[in-house]
Amino acid sequence: MSKNYKISIIKGDGIGPEIIDEAIKVLDIVSYNCGFTLEYKEYLMGGIAIDVTGKPLPQETIDGVLNSDACLFGAIGGAKWDSLPRELRPETGLLNFREAMGVYANLRPAVIYDELINASTLKAEIIEGVNIMVVRELIGGIYFGKPRANDGQKAYNTMIYTKDEIIRIGKKAFEIAMSRDKRVCSVDKANVLEVSQLWRDTMIELSASYPEVELTHMYVDNATMQLVRNPKQFDVIVTGNIFGDILSDTASMVVGSIGLLPSASTGDKTAIYEPIHGSAPDIAGLGIANPIATIQSAAMMLRYSLGETQAADIIEKAIKQALKKGYRTEDLASFDTKHLVSTSEMGNIIADFIDK
Ligand code: IPM
Ligand code: MN
Repeated sequence: MSKNYKISIIKGDGIGPEIIDEAIKVLDIVSYNCGFTLEYKEYLMGGIAIDVTGKPLPQETIDGVLNSDACLFGAIGGAKWDSLPRELRPETGLLNFREAMGVYANLRPAVIYDELINASTLKAEIIEGVNIMVVRELIGGIYFGKPRANDGQKAYNTMIYTKDEIIRIGKKAFEIAMSRDKRVCSVDKANVLEVSQLWRDTMIELSASYPEVELTHMYVDNATMQLVRNPKQFDVIVTGNIFGDILSDTASMVVGSIGLLPSASTGDKTAIYEPIHGSAPDIAGLGIANPIATIQSAAMMLRYSLGETQAADIIEKAIKQALKKGYRTEDLASFDTKHLVSTSEMGNIIADFIDK
């Protein structure tokens, strides 16, 4: 009997449904060719969940995802819901979702496609060969710290990390580094923040258990600058929630477009795979969104959660072939674009390369 996996799908808002549809198109073909089946079940989250159920994160979504083998996620949010009280906003739903799923480690690989060297705003010699893994702590730090408030006159948030939380994410980063170039750069703001001092001290302590891995430290302001100055100096970057949010957007532009970066959010219970970009309401429905970050996220899902390595390899190869032949969505358009294509055309082209 062929293997069957239960995949929960959250399309979300804005371009979310468009990009997820392309990923499913690709998954259907690759699973058929590789002899396994994927059973999808769709759940609501974000703005659409607010419209339908009154809440950004219905309980049914939490239960459904915990019951599945992995979750493929599009994007959430949009102007329509921006004026809602914070606890009812789509973004709060996403944060509560990550917390409920226990996905503390967010892996955001920024790898340059040779075919896209000219799509980056940086010079070719700076970005050739860039291969960075940003390991972002995802369910702690200032995003979740209490107290937090805004009474119109005074507002505050709290940045908290416990030693256990730092050890948990640190271990993940060191382990990932062991399968790569064995270098970890821990990014903090230890010259100013107590929470960063504990972060740095804990990383140093932890590094004793990984003697083969070289640990360095950088302040976050310097790290953002270094990422654009000389991105090749980085192998694994490990950092807290808000710094990781900022650094991964920067890293995405180093490799060409935010429309390219996939991510895996992992923990002890389940994993969520999602592009790092948002719901881009300004281009929703226009058919110009780049589906590659989501298709790449689907490949990560096959590799890490389902162990379907061959299928993941096939998808990644097909993406490269599409780019090599000069197919580009609008975000990547440059002088080497041979064929400017829409979201669904890009999905079709990648699917066709899988079939060849
Ligand atoms: C991301 C996004 C989210 C974050 C938002 C939408 C809450 O920017 O996944 O990077 O800040 O984590
Ligand atoms: Mn972000």
